[in-house]
Amino acid sequence: MTMNKTVRLARRPHGEVQREDFAIAEEALSDPAEGQFRVRAEYVSLDPAMRGWMNEGKSYVPPVGIGEVMRGFVSGTVDASRHAKFKEGDTVSGLLGVQSHAITDGQGIAKADTSLAPLQTWVGGLGMPGLTAYCGLTYVGEPKEGETVVVSAASGAVGQVVGQIANIYGCRTVGIAGGPEKCAALTDEFGFDAAVDYKKEWLADDLKAACSDGIDVNFENVGGDILDSVLPLMNFRGRIAICGLISAYNATKPVPGPYNFRSILVNRLRVQGFIVFDFLDKYPEAYKQLGTWYKQGKLKFREDVRDGGLDAFPDVLKLLYSGGNFGKLILKV
Ligand SMILES: NC(=O)c1ccc[n+]([C@@H]2O[C@H](COP(=O)([O-])OP(=O)(O)OC[C@H]3O[C@@H](n4cnc5c(N)ncnc54)[C@H](OP(=O)(O)O)[C@@H]3O)[C@@H](O)[C@H]2O)c1
Repeated sequence: MTMNKTVRLARRPHGEVQREDFAIAEEALSDPAEGQFRVRAEYVSLDPAMRGWMNEGKSYVPPVGIGEVMRGFVSGTVDASRHAKFKEGDTVSGLLGVQSHAITDGQGIAKADTSLAPLQTWVGGLGMPGLTAYCGLTYVGEPKEGETVVVSAASGAVGQVVGQIANIYGCRTVGIAGGPEKCAALTDEFGFDAAVDYKKEWLADDLKAACSDGIDVNFENVGGDILDSVLPLMNFRGRIAICGLISAYNATKPVPGPYNFRSILVNRLRVQGFIVFDFLDKYPEAYKQLGTWYKQGKLKFREDVRDGGLDAFPDVLKLLYSGGNFGKLILKV
């Protein structure tokens, strides 16, 4: 008999996630009611934000409750339907939770066109990370042709797309990543103009050398020392799009603010945080644009797809916070 395998939050983590923070079990499979359909998950997206969703406290979405199915983006196939718009066999993606089968009324669920890209890409470059890169860079970073754009965690799901879109916009692109292999991929695979390895000793000097005309747009994914190295190099009226601060997600003590905060004042910078959900009205445009560029061969997506099924979820999730992934981290269900 087919069962629903679920990954539920068992307790709130302290610091790094542990296996014991989750309860993984097989449960009875439900059938969809009128107006609903059921999705058989094929790929689960592993996202840095998952760590924040597990914490108690005020955020941009409510925390996942203890005992609830872990929140997560999924792509899969409709295997039962009593919904007018979604039929059995349709491929879809959306926030369906970390489980093998999800029942939904279709709210926020998009059809995934597998003639354009494989199903896994619909939780990656053509899914939430791609939307984040497009909306954050275009509408928060507001880069102009000829400007210098810097992005951190540049080989990751969001960063690799930011760099490639900035190239399309005619900008000079500089990526920051950990280690020679990831840095080589930035220039050789994704077409960045320069790459800086933050794991080497002289991040500030190397970044300065790579950004000889200063920085106009910083797409910040990491925070901490990386943001501090970027700040003094920012140009007059530069923009900093705060997309993520992954260096602090597992912190158990308060983290210091940027030491080079003064640059915001003297350079009249605009520093703006954003969440991809702020741009719901831009999603149709973003999907269309990303799909077009992908079809034209202007965008490439590097995916890091892991086996092991839902049992492997806690261990695979950890990879994000140590740089163990190379590209969009996805778990095959
Ligand atoms: N605002 C939004 O709506 C939104 C949406 C999606 C994602 N995000 C944010 O965007 C950022 C990137 O997400 P992603 O999905 O694209 O993940 P990702 O870049 O694919 O994976 C995370 C990467 O972050 C880097 N990293 C981890 N810990 C680090 C540390 N202490 N110092 C420096 N680098 C570190 C690692 O790369 P290296 O090996 O290069 O260190 C790791 O591979 C995250 O901060 C995430 O929260 C925000």
